Amino acid sequence: MEIRALHPLFAAEAVGVDLSQPLDEGDFNTLKAAFEQNSVLVIRRQEITPAQQVAFSRRLGELEIHVLRQFLHPDAPEILLVSNEKRDGKPIGLGDAGHYWHSDLSYKEEPSLGSALYARVLPRDGGDTLFASMHAAYDRLEPALRERLIGLTGVHDYGYRSDIQARAGTRPPLTEAQRAAVPPVEHPLVRLHDATGRPALFVNEGFTTRIPELPPAESDAFLRQLFAASVDPAVTYRHHWQPGDMVLWDNRAVIHLATGCPEDQARTLHRTTIKGARPVGAAQTARAA
Ligand code: SIN
Repeated sequence: MEIRALHPLFAAEAVGVDLSQPLDEGDFNTLKAAFEQNSVLVIRRQEITPAQQVAFSRRLGELEIHVLRQFLHPDAPEILLVSNEKRDGKPIGLGDAGHYWHSDLSYKEEPSLGSALYARVLPRDGGDTLFASMHAAYDRLEPALRERLIGLTGVHDYGYRSDIQARAGTRPPLTEAQRAAVPPVEHPLVRLHDATGRPALFVNEGFTTRIPELPPAESDAFLRQLFAASVDPAVTYRHHWQPGDMVLWDNRAVIHLATGCPEDQARTLHRTTIKGARPVGAAQTARAA
């Protein structure tokens, strides 16, 4: 297996991997280490079944089953269909998934560790996915700004995003029961990566709504500044999908955005989402020490 850089700061390609066969322990550990070090790992030219994707993803951790049951793969509920295709006039998957910067499930007490997205049907035009390194974004902040972040938290709120989508008419409003299942949560603005210990900015315009320790106007201004820093072109990688691409991303270390494609061009990908742990911030480890 060879690991080739795709960007000067993060993102790499693993060459010589066949995910249709179970990887031996050594290859799996090499791949996992490359994923943790590079945050985005591209594995091209794969031909795998839903069961093989699930089996591989499970080795990275327990899998989430998405709440939108109607968009799960009929043979593998661990796979969420990210798709703009329709069957009998009805969408088969989430067509508008991630059209804003976000980290998957950051609005949960235990946000996702990572996701694996496998390309099945690709459009002729567009459909790229952008990734931004939150390690690199943090490293580029002025020292005084980094100092200011210590001990601050961000509120992540799925209801906030859903309300925007409901107003735009792209998704039905959440029911009271759905809203109650995803109450707003607070996470440190800087989290330490579980495996590497590297600090990463942990905010995203998709779900982070405020910094509760600051007055509202100051919180809004600071969040705007952090959102801008987190998507600076210097820390972003654009993935142009090819048939058979499998892309793994580390939700502890990157945010991502689906750029979209023309509505009359089909795009279908299979996503598995790996469960993660409650984020730990720099201030928490300092207190524990
Ligand atoms: C997602 O946010 O999981 C979807 C990304 C994509 O469709 O490119």
